[in-house]
Amino acid sequence: MREVSAMHRLGSELLDAFAGRDGIVSILSRAPEGDAALGCQRWLLATPAKRYAAHVLYGDLLASEGLRILDVGGGLTTLTRTLAERHDYTLVDIMAHDSEASISAFLASAPPFKVIKEDWFSAIGDERFDVVIAADLFPNVDQRLGLFLDRVLPHCGQVRLSLTYYNEPRFYHTRRIDADEALCMLAWDGQQIARTLGRYADRIEKADFDLFAVTSDSVFPNKRQVCLLTLQGSQPSHVGAAV
Ligand SMILES: C[S@@+](CC[C@H](N)C(=O)[O-])C[C@H]1O[C@@H](n2cnc3c(N)ncnc32)[C@H](O)[C@@H]1O
Repeated sequence: MREVSAMHRLGSELLDAFAGRDGIVSILSRAPEGDAALGCQRWLLATPAKRYAAHVLYGDLLASEGLRILDVGGGLTTLTRTLAERHDYTLVDIMAHDSEASISAFLASAPPFKVIKEDWFSAIGDERFDVVIAADLFPNVDQRLGLFLDRVLPHCGQVRLSLTYYNEPRFYHTRRIDADEALCMLAWDGQQIARTLGRYADRIEKADFDLFAVTSDSVFPNKRQVCLLTLQGSQPSHVGAAV
């Protein structure tokens, strides 16, 4: 299997190769009973492509320790327990998918970690982290990808992302929560991501912008495409040195 930190698109060949070595599913099989109620846990259990992304973004961190990790939009899953146990772990997440009762039950039974239940834009300052992770948040849920990278790159060793996009028109009718306005949100395509990431090309490990042109071989029924990549931050990275 390819070097996981290199920029790549998640296609069917990769997913097939991963099936026989899915370590994430075995961690989930040992989950405490209450975790089954968590939205992100259910997605992770149900979706091999999500587990592949988790393997790429978190796999080494589930076995190392002692890093300062910021996870933006990471949600709550059984993996959170391991990350909190092994690292100085901060989760910034508005928790769109879980009830207060499930969140409280999870936090009461997990190793301690810092949770900030707010929009990342107001929650993240200039605190330093070894690794910043954002999985399946940009730009499908949140189109502020460039603002996010400008905010975190100066203060961290590396940023790990999975980016979700559609190379055919996909749009959602939505409503603003702070004003009386109906909006239509057009999901980003690969070229929009390429344009934004182009500004950071020299920070991307094994950059490959051609992958954004691929229109076939989606591993999701709704034809979404997923790209995984690591960007070097401006701070020294202690990731390789962690045990
Ligand atoms: C599509 S889910 C992805 C969850 C998980 N990272 C995964 O890969 O399955 C998006 C996550 O981002 C969180 N989220 C959405 N908007 C956010 C924001 N502005 N600030 C922080 N978290 C946000 C949601 O609560 C949710 O947990």
